[in-house]
Amino acid sequence: MRKLAKKNLALLNQLSLPFDLIPFSLSQILHFEIFPCDLYSFEEQTFKLHFKENSLIPKKDLAVATILEKPSFFIQNEEEQKIQDKNRELLRLSFRSLSVSPGMSSCQKALNLLCLNFSSLYFNPLDIEGLNLQYQCLKILLDYFNEHPTLLAEALKNFEKQRHPYLFAQPMISSLMALLFLQKLKIIGKQSEIIVMASFFKDIGMGFFPKHWFLEKRILSSEELYSLQEHPQHSCNVLHGKIPLARIGLEIIKFHHCFTNQEAKRSSIVGLETAIVSMMDIYTAMISSRPYRKAYSPYEALSYLKEIFQDPFPLEFKYFVLMVNSAFLKK
Ligand SMILES: [Fe+2]
Repeated sequence: MRKLAKKNLALLNQLSLPFDLIPFSLSQILHFEIFPCDLYSFEEQTFKLHFKENSLIPKKDLAVATILEKPSFFIQNEEEQKIQDKNRELLRLSFRSLSVSPGMSSCQKALNLLCLNFSSLYFNPLDIEGLNLQYQCLKILLDYFNEHPTLLAEALKNFEKQRHPYLFAQPMISSLMALLFLQKLKIIGKQSEIIVMASFFKDIGMGFFPKHWFLEKRILSSEELYSLQEHPQHSCNVLHGKIPLARIGLEIIKFHHCFTNQEAKRSSIVGLETAIVSMMDIYTAMISSRPYRKAYSPYEALSYLKEIFQDPFPLEFKYFVLMVNSAFLKK
């Protein structure tokens, strides 16, 4: 009788799982040593316990690559916050260790964790604690790369190789590239900080749009594309009063697409700061692939940028080409 009750309870638990479980990406625990909770897979039309809480995470590249591919994983809803808190703690620790042991490996870890934590903001862009943590870490990162400028180009190249999802990686790549460019132009201090911050946070308003829009292979409809044009304003609304970003930073964000949006171009007067953010944004977007298109070559991207920026900002465009060539193209 007791055996039958136990069996029925197990069956009941199994049947209730679909109501509790949410999809989970293993990238969230790549920096963990042990599984922070039970992980379920969905196979043969049923949820199965795949990895048990507190068991060791297989770290070997092959094992990680294998489990990253298939099957899809799920966790119980209540575990999500616990994992996010743990990732924030790891982020704080990694930035503390940057000052203690500067070098490419601690720098790389800090960048990966910053990107990983940034991704959770796209699911909850009104998370003030998360926004401020990102802001504080980015400030530390700026000081770090201003103290160790020779590490920046290499760190950027290494980060690109990590192949984080483009929606979350693009802000990091474009803002680091902006910093590299500003260092070449000898623009430093507060002006540099505002431009890099604006470059990093400019697309946070994308968090208000359905995530599947960015994952599907189809090209978005004209209505969807039209509503996406609102994202700079959404970003400003999210950031205003939440992080200590200067007013000019919000202005840059508001107009960061004005060079490619004819309507916005006509109604706005923009300066060099916005041009730099826009130039980095277009370049990094073009050289990365999307589910619906392949990446453009650096030469194609530069040729497109030439049409836009050579006339209004000839000197800056020339310096940008020189920077891309020396940091990324020259063997
Ligand atoms: Fe944008």
